Amino acid sequence: MTETSPLILQADASGIATAAALLTKGALVAFPTETVYGLGADARDGGAVAAIYAAKERPSFNPLIVHVPDVATAQRYVAWPETADILAQAFWPGPLTLVLPLLPDHGLSSLVTAGLPTLAVRVPAQASAKALLEAFGGPVAAPSANPSGRISPTTADHVLQGLGGRVAAIVDDGPCSVGLESTIIGLDPDPVLLRAGGLPSEAIEAALGGPFHTMASPPENEQVTAPGQLVSHYAPAAALRMNAQTARAGEVLLGFGPMTCDLNLSETGDLHEAAANLFDCLHQLDKLHRPIAVAPVPTHGLGRAINDRLARAAAPRP
Ligand code: TXA
Ligand code: MG
Repeated sequence: MTETSPLILQADASGIATAAALLTKGALVAFPTETVYGLGADARDGGAVAAIYAAKERPSFNPLIVHVPDVATAQRYVAWPETADILAQAFWPGPLTLVLPLLPDHGLSSLVTAGLPTLAVRVPAQASAKALLEAFGGPVAAPSANPSGRISPTTADHVLQGLGGRVAAIVDDGPCSVGLESTIIGLDPDPVLLRAGGLPSEAIEAALGGPFHTMASPPENEQVTAPGQLVSHYAPAAALRMNAQTARAGEVLLGFGPMTCDLNLSETGDLHEAAANLFDCLHQLDKLHRPIAVAPVPTHGLGRAINDRLARAAAPRP
């Protein structure tokens, strides 16, 4: 792990080539996707994957998503039921991660899956991410590029603030267009929602032709055994309170829709805009070191994932 400042690379051919060469050397490279910035490493290189956990100070039981450029590459690593085909046809490339049974001889570091018999795999839509995956030519393990438990990064600057010299390079491709992590669906073999995210459940239901199950979060204070279900997550340093109509003394108010507030997720009440702004607003308010009150956000469409992230940001800290 280097203590010097990371290289800031443009998302052009020369920046992508440098980023791919660093990945090949086993270095950590933060790169943009349409959801959030990822902290990437060669998923076959145990030392590189271990460096991800170290840089994030991430609990080792929490496995990583592997990023690939296309369906054919995903099929080298995981079993591929018909439902995977339906969902991949409908939503890849895009903000959807599928958790599927690992194939034998997958060649990935066991640290990627934290010893689970399944693998989370995703094909991101961001052109620069696809270019990096193709230039590197291998599977890239990448969690969100933030210290574990803290607010996810949607700009290169967020990554720099959070991880600084713990990464070799950051590919800067501007703010993320979706702004929420991918929706995670497990297929075992029936679909189950493991994390609400940048692809609304309604769209997945439409593709599947009906409703599907949701894995419940563990109750507060209970030992977390299932990955992706940590109660406190995405947390600013200060306390956060949801469904606030007005700010209490000392609080800053994060609004939604037309209202008086300190910052607004979307003045017009647009959930896509609110999703894209969410983490940047939390990063900005976090710097004020004042408790944060957040106005009610509807629970349909992307509002489900926005409320999920806010609830985890508001949860008691471990
Ligand atoms: O949009 C995203 O998904 C971003 C970008 C960078 O792709 N990545 C991301 O990674 O959000 P991360 O590590 O912050 O979240 C991955 C989630 C974790 O909650 C982890 O527990 C879950 O995926 N996960 C990974 N492998 C799993 C598996 N085999 N079974 C169940 N959950 C898994
Ligand atoms: Mg994360």
